[in-house]
Amino acid sequence: MKPFRSILITGGAGFIGSHFTRLAVRSHPGARVTVLDKLTYAGNRANLAGLGGAIRFVRGDICDAALVARLFKGLDAVVHFAAETHVDRSLGRSADFLRTNVLGTHTLLEAARRAPGLRFVHVSTDEVYGSRARGAFREGDPLNPSSPYSASKASSDLLALSYVTTWGLNLSVTRCTNNYGPNQHPEKLIPLFVTNLEEGKQVPVYGSGRNRRDWIFVEDHCRAVDLVLRRGGAGEVYNVAGGQEKDNLAVTRAILKAMGLGRDRIRFVEDRPGHDWRYAISDAKVRALGFKPRESFASGLARTVAWYRANAAWWRPVKAGDFQSYYRKQYRQR
Ligand code: NAD
Ligand code: TYD
Repeated sequence: MKPFRSILITGGAGFIGSHFTRLAVRSHPGARVTVLDKLTYAGNRANLAGLGGAIRFVRGDICDAALVARLFKGLDAVVHFAAETHVDRSLGRSADFLRTNVLGTHTLLEAARRAPGLRFVHVSTDEVYGSRARGAFREGDPLNPSSPYSASKASSDLLALSYVTTWGLNLSVTRCTNNYGPNQHPEKLIPLFVTNLEEGKQVPVYGSGRNRRDWIFVEDHCRAVDLVLRRGGAGEVYNVAGGQEKDNLAVTRAILKAMGLGRDRIRFVEDRPGHDWRYAISDAKVRALGFKPRESFASGLARTVAWYRANAAWWRPVKAGDFQSYYRKQYRQR
């Protein structure tokens, strides 16, 4: 494969996108790396701290067709992370999810079909398959999303794949399980709980706490995306799993243990509407490309807790902003 000379990363100021941007700078030496990010409540320039002149940062919206067309000139790869990503928010603000996740992806695809030779990775989620009591979903299984978030991601996956069939795009889709690690917005389970505990608060476990997720350390996910970028086939979907399935109470207990705190800090709260019981995927296909996660849940969680403890200056302003007002309305019992 020829080295990429110019890579566009959408959503590169967010959690996973920023880790991927760091990886791209290291693993594609000589490539011009551009980040396109709207800096919504979830985007944070501080996530790209230290990268300085190694990247070009463009603040803008993936729905802006004129801007996207300009940025696609001379590009040879796009890695598309930009999205509205939080299930709870999608219950209250679903229009934002449809706009960015569906129409924004459509805008990128329209530009991509006018860019011959472009390689495109559309980053998606295991949530598009829906919940599954036993066993694991494979890439060819039907999509059965439960929330406006996962339905908008499923729509964008299908749209992306349709551009392979119709326009011959060289595009692959990745569907990953729950990520955790440094720089994740404290609206998501692990950083919310770690930062609440740092603040002396309790942690709100939804429902019975028995819902199950498979967890992957963010850097492992990024390595899988980079591998798919280089070796993935056009029109192919790749599940990316962490292989560390746990129920939410087990995750909560692991956090409490890592922070030396007791179970009295757990507070059971009203369940999330439509709360998917369990996500599970088979990752044999991406493993056949050569991928294997490196971080165990215990070591990844220790790194994550240490990062949040050392970086209160990163998360305190985030928790004081949009986050607070949104959650006060959404879940009063917090
Ligand atoms: P995030 O919410 O932390 O970051 C999203 C980024 O996209 C932010 O920087 C935001 O400013 C930007 N953005 C949002 N709307 C935009 C728009 N219209 N134009 C340009 N930029 C915009 O998200 P994340 O957790 O890093 O997830 C990144 C991608 O990975 C998403 O596509 C998500 O569906 C997928 N994914 C996430 C997980 C997970 O556990 N977090 C798991 C599997 C897949
Ligand atoms: P989350 O991090 O929002 O990711 P997703 O819903 O995309 O899997 O939630 C992970 C799990 O943790 C999910 O089962 C919901 C649960 N959860 C809580 O119990 N309490 C919380 O405050 C949050 C944010 C999530």
